[in-house]
Amino acid sequence: MDLRKFITVVEDYPKPGISFKDITTLMDNGEAYKYATDQIVQYARDKEIDIVVGPEARGFIIGCPVAYSLGLGFAPVRKEGKLPRETVKVEYGLEYGKDVLTIHKDAIKPGQRVLITDDLLATGGTILATIQLVEQLGGIVAGIAFLIELSDLGGREKLENHDILTLMSF
Ligand code: PRP
Repeated sequence: MDLRKFITVVEDYPKPGISFKDITTLMDNGEAYKYATDQIVQYARDKEIDIVVGPEARGFIIGCPVAYSLGLGFAPVRKEGKLPRETVKVEYGLEYGKDVLTIHKDAIKPGQRVLITDDLLATGGTILATIQLVEQLGGIVAGIAFLIELSDLGGREKLENHDILTLMSF
């Protein structure tokens, strides 16, 4: 299935010059959403994954059906102040300024093998911060899966030797 045709490219959103990749037109098509999910499940199947982790908000949309299909749990990575119990945190750079991502301290046990999911690999900042959170808890990042890679933004280089799956490239 050609998944690219389910992505709607919205020019000049959220600001002039940005070509936004809208995944909602993939998600609202049951066949395409299932196909994309199954591709990631297939990728993860031989990696002995213990838990799936994804950053808010679109990392949940990708990761939760994958976790369900593999019979695994899902641990959310959220912006600071959103998780109710003890967390670890990482600061990461945005285009302008900084933000903080957090994960519950008990979400991952040392030595657990983790699949990270998100909708989009752009500069890689979000996923790099997510990797750092997993590793702070002693988790092993066994794979990282995205729907889309924006190949001009250098995200893949930032993720160095990690095992990465992207279903589409723009
Ligand atoms: C978007 C996207 C990825 C991230 C990719 O999330 O869903 O998580 O940016 O960019 P990067 O590779 O340059 O870090 P956003 O921060 O817009 O959050 P949202 O999913 O909650 O809208």
